[in-house]
Amino acid sequence: MPTHSAGVADVRSPIHLAPNAAKTFHDLSSLALERDDADRWLAEGPRADDLRHAARQVCALAFSGDHPDARRDVHHVLHRLYDLHLARPVPGMTRNQESVELLRLRKQIEQAWQAWEHNRIGDVPENLTPDAIGGAIKAMWRQHAGHNHPVFEFMRTEADRAQIIKYFTTDYALNMRFYDLIVLSLLGIDEDVRMEVAGNFWDEMGQGNAARTHVRLYRDLLDYLGIEDNPAAFVDALGWEGLGGYNLLLYFALNRREYFRSIGALAITELSDPDQYAKLIEGCRRVGIGTDRPSVLDYYSEHVEVDALHGDGWIDNVIVPVLRRYPDQARAVLEGAAMRLNTSKDYWDWQLAEMRLLGKSAPDAVATL
Ligand SMILES: [Fe+2]
Ligand SMILES: [Fe+2]
Repeated sequence: MPTHSAGVADVRSPIHLAPNAAKTFHDLSSLALERDDADRWLAEGPRADDLRHAARQVCALAFSGDHPDARRDVHHVLHRLYDLHLARPVPGMTRNQESVELLRLRKQIEQAWQAWEHNRIGDVPENLTPDAIGGAIKAMWRQHAGHNHPVFEFMRTEADRAQIIKYFTTDYALNMRFYDLIVLSLLGIDEDVRMEVAGNFWDEMGQGNAARTHVRLYRDLLDYLGIEDNPAAFVDALGWEGLGGYNLLLYFALNRREYFRSIGALAITELSDPDQYAKLIEGCRRVGIGTDRPSVLDYYSEHVEVDALHGDGWIDNVIVPVLRRYPDQARAVLEGAAMRLNTSKDYWDWQLAEMRLLGKSAPDAVATL
């Protein structure tokens, strides 16, 4: 459990954001991340203290009421901090993966944010046996306000081509990162659950067919639609909702002590995809996406098929054996599932609003990504 100290203490007291706190937070974190050695740069003058102070204020604002700009700033920085551990290895990388000050900043953000996420989990069944966990996860999923989210029905029946293309651009960040999430989920795990996770990994890798890896299938769709593959622009186009959903899975995957929440969250991802993607595919065909070349929708049709198997496989072959070993972690698994459901609903609400906004703008102003 996170210590709630940073978030709760700040939330209780009235927040007087220094006028320049958001700018200080943004500038110092960005400049530090761009330096070869963030610790050395932050050690000059009062920069480290200034950053810590500004981060405390911006986090307090971000996670106390309706301050979407602050929440986005915080999640955007957290996204960059996680990227230090996931970036493609190229020559001349900075030393910042091991920066003590940047790790301190990451913990500061994670504590404030996780206190907020925990506060909205709601009731979670207690004392479940391992055999009852699958039913509990599925019940939680079906009863959640985000279940059968209208954004997918909107795409199936109403959205125009530009609105659906907008969905693809916002879906990019997590779809492209899923390979890494599965890789991270393989580290150090019990031997008896490795086969299921390895099976997920192999599916991500197109079962050995380079033309069928999930990343390749997604790129095929972007190519077909003429969308330039620009990861930074796709991330910049996300609101706090999209960044928060992405960061949640990365937070779980990068923090070993969050393993039990991580496997609950990933179960929800596998369960949700098939029905939703079936609606999306129907919507695509309705507006002519892929009708001339059906294979461009294979990223989604593949997930309709494999995730129908992954959902139950993940529960039966990962979660149940893990809970047989550690029965008192059932609550953590369900908390992870609940947090994933909450962040997904935020994201889909945002996507639907963005698509409707796009529908109101001039037709030639659409989908510039
Ligand atoms: Fe995938
Ligand atoms: Fe899957």
